[in-house]
Amino acid sequence: MQNRIHSMLLGTGAAVPQKKLTNQDLEKIVDTNDQWIVERTGIKERHIIDGKTTNSDLAAEAALIALEDANLKPEDIDRIIVATVTGDFNFPSVACLVQDKIGAVNAAGFDVQAACSGFIFGLSIADGLICSGTAKNILVIGSEVLSKITDWKDRSTCVLFGDAAGAAVVGPANGDGRGILATFLKTDGRLADLLNMPGGGTKYPPEVSVKENLNNIKMQGPEVFKAAVTAMGDAAKHILSEADITSEEVDLLIPHQANKRIIDATARRVKLPSEKVYINLQNYGNTSAASIPVALNEARREGLLRAGDVCVLVAFGGGLTWGSAAIRI
Ligand SMILES: CC(C)(COP(=O)(O)OP(=O)(O)OC[C@H]1O[C@@H](n2cnc3c(N)ncnc32)[C@H](O)[C@@H]1OP(=O)(O)O)[C@@H](O)C(=O)NCCC(=O)NCCS
Repeated sequence: MQNRIHSMLLGTGAAVPQKKLTNQDLEKIVDTNDQWIVERTGIKERHIIDGKTTNSDLAAEAALIALEDANLKPEDIDRIIVATVTGDFNFPSVACLVQDKIGAVNAAGFDVQAACSGFIFGLSIADGLICSGTAKNILVIGSEVLSKITDWKDRSTCVLFGDAAGAAVVGPANGDGRGILATFLKTDGRLADLLNMPGGGTKYPPEVSVKENLNNIKMQGPEVFKAAVTAMGDAAKHILSEADITSEEVDLLIPHQANKRIIDATARRVKLPSEKVYINLQNYGNTSAASIPVALNEARREGLLRAGDVCVLVAFGGGLTWGSAAIRI
């Protein structure tokens, strides 16, 4: 086991917009109600960015908090990986904008696009770069402003999403057994149509996208729900076997925060009791790539993850994408 560990978490941070949008607020916008949203999803409120702040602003704020937690300076970072589907621009990447905003002058940055699984994809890349000796200290950020691509007239999607950024600094393991034990990634492009934003890319020119209302999230909710339950359960089971750990050895499961019913089903697949499952979606909704790093940061700061504890991350998202990671904190 020990010789498989190459990288470890050195620090975490998060940034969340101040403005909250409650279920009661949503009742005034679309035909919905608090009871429906809570029963079907578990979400009570979400945070929404103001008109001036950008994705890269949130990401930079989370990154600076993670750096302070890791006791490192921006100059110490040699890679910045940002997982996002809501970048400030098509290009340049959010990672390059974050590099400028935090003054990480020695870094090279790039974005990863794996929707809600993006943070785990970024973490896996960071682990590989550190393992190969290509990089030492890496910022992995999940940052989203989904409110900008939400169709506020579609009650089946607009109640689900929120804005946030979370960051982790990953560096070389120190040989004491702590670190990233294993990562697992999977995609199935055959199901790309279940959850996507058709506009904004090169397939549909801007005028077509606007005219046909393609610049927002489209989702076949029940189909996505079924795929998520299967994929997240499989990913959680797979990572236990890959990391050679049992459910009993897991101290905390941090699942992607999309829907409480999906999280409960995932926990059941790996026989984890609810007290070992971290849930904060009631406060944030689904923040896509930000959901896991925000939850990881909160769990650490609440004292739920101490040095040596085993934490399992598991995510699912559009693509379809899914993945998991096991970390000895
Ligand atoms: C979106 C989701 C909560 C909908 O729950 P559901 O139980 O599948 O509900 P359905 O879509 O079958 O809709 C059931 C009814 O509720 C209605 N409904 C949908 N959204 C509603 C809302 N916000 N408020 C009130 N009623 C709503 C539907 O119109 C439908 O009404 P009908 O039976 O009269 O046609 C659920 O499918 C889900 O969570 N899917 C996965 C979403 C997800 O996690 N996506 C991100 C993955 S990373």
